[in-house]
Amino acid sequence: MARLGGSRMSARSMGSHQSARAETTTWLTPPHINGGLGSFDLDPCAAPSPRPWPTARRHIELPEDGLEAAWAGRVWLNPPYSFAAWDWLSKLAEHGEGTALVFARTETAGFVREVWDKATGLLFLHGRLHFHYPDGTRAAANSGAPSVLVAYGQKDAQILADKANEWGTYVPLNNASTTKARTAA
Ligand SMILES: C[S@@+](CC[C@H](N)C(=O)[O-])C[C@H]1O[C@@H](n2cnc3c(N)ncnc32)[C@H](O)[C@@H]1O
Repeated sequence: MARLGGSRMSARSMGSHQSARAETTTWLTPPHINGGLGSFDLDPCAAPSPRPWPTARRHIELPEDGLEAAWAGRVWLNPPYSFAAWDWLSKLAEHGEGTALVFARTETAGFVREVWDKATGLLFLHGRLHFHYPDGTRAAANSGAPSVLVAYGQKDAQILADKANEWGTYVPLNNASTTKARTAA
């Protein structure tokens, strides 16, 4: 099992959500988002225990390194906020089954490479999310930026499409369902 030390943990966990309360580096997905998308087999970058609610059947949490771990099944991914987030998206694209939650920074190189060029569907959320503190408390301030759910694989794309009336605007993408599938073709 690959394990990480404390310094890497803080570097990987830092992001724009920190501005709302500086002492927190873990921002939890609003439970209605994760819970509204069906069941997930794995959260490879889960909140530290004790977490207020599960996000998948299996959680990988620090100091185990979820980026180095083997992934199986349908993955829920709200990656650490930093440039390393794109490494997590890249791994999910390669894995080919799951949904990620990221900021809708649609013009950035990482978004072009890992989302526009690889994902199977996007659900742009209307309004702004309020993330939660590690104890489950909802942040008073919103995230300060728009968020988008990113599907990899046809099953996850369909789940996002089905949520469009309720949550936002769905955009189908014409990419192959997985990087593996493209390579094999
Ligand atoms: C944005 S939070 C998301 C938490 C949870 N997945 C959710 O959706 O509510 C990102 C989490 O990734 C964890 N993390 C950061 N680097 C990690 C690593 N290399 N392996 C596993 N978890 C990591 C942090 O501890 C933090 O709790």
